[in-house]
Amino acid sequence: MPAELIDGNVIARSIRDEVALDVAKLVARGIQPGLAVVLVGDDPASEVYVRNKGRACDEAGMHSVTINMPATTTQQELLAQVKHLNDDPAIHGILVQMPLPKHLDADVVIRSILPAKDVDGFHPVNVGKNLIGDRDGFVPCTPAGVQEMLARSGTVTKGKECVIVGRSNIVGKPMMALMVQNGANANATVTVCHSATRDLKEHTLRADILIVAAGKPKMVTGDMVRKGAVVIDVGINRIEDPSTKSGFRLVGDVDFASARERASKITPVPGGVGPMTIAMLLKNTVRAAEQSAGR
Ligand code: GUN
Repeated sequence: MPAELIDGNVIARSIRDEVALDVAKLVARGIQPGLAVVLVGDDPASEVYVRNKGRACDEAGMHSVTINMPATTTQQELLAQVKHLNDDPAIHGILVQMPLPKHLDADVVIRSILPAKDVDGFHPVNVGKNLIGDRDGFVPCTPAGVQEMLARSGTVTKGKECVIVGRSNIVGKPMMALMVQNGANANATVTVCHSATRDLKEHTLRADILIVAAGKPKMVTGDMVRKGAVVIDVGINRIEDPSTKSGFRLVGDVDFASARERASKITPVPGGVGPMTIAMLLKNTVRAAEQSAGR
């Protein structure tokens, strides 16, 4: 029997509805959660993401500002903008859209954001809090979204073999920290595979929960999936497809058709992890606002 789908659109919708209720409660106390998104340059994919983030904030009743800065922005100008937002009491969350133009130093920019406003969870203070299991920090939105999908799809994680493919700072490493904690929706035995892993298939075939965030289209095929595994595909890759109107198609890092024959549950691409990221960003921003007000 083909795997059941874990529908990211449906789960993200519920979270966004919950967020809107939390926003309404805060607004009643005189606090409107505010998110600032800074976009440097004119990367078309980033422009789409940023527009969607702004719309999602508006829909949830949050305050949102988008700051568009030219590709020629200097490091000093960007740092000054971040400082301005750090000092702005109407802004509870700050997100600087990545990737930045090459001449800017993303690490320095990330470290300049106040950890209490770093709703992306990229600041080393928040990275450390995630590792030690301090839930007052902010967890990057994509791995937080994956954990939420596992929880809301009724996937048991305690004592399970969780294999993560990919070790990025945005997904693989924070995902590892989340799944290994001794707590709810975690408590798994975690393996992180990467480009130097000797025999990838040997590891993926052990996985009860397989999370793939490698950035390589269809790299995990059905023969690499353990029968009955839960498969979470974090990849979003644009591949050429002359049969579509645009000439392109979105595929994940998992070969969906073959993996679906082996898995018990699987996320599609698009409509899987993708919509969760914005939902978790809103959730983080609401919590930043709550924490700024001493709850
Ligand atoms: N670019 C792609 N995904 C993200 C994200 O989650 N946060 C930021 N800041 N930039 C991104």
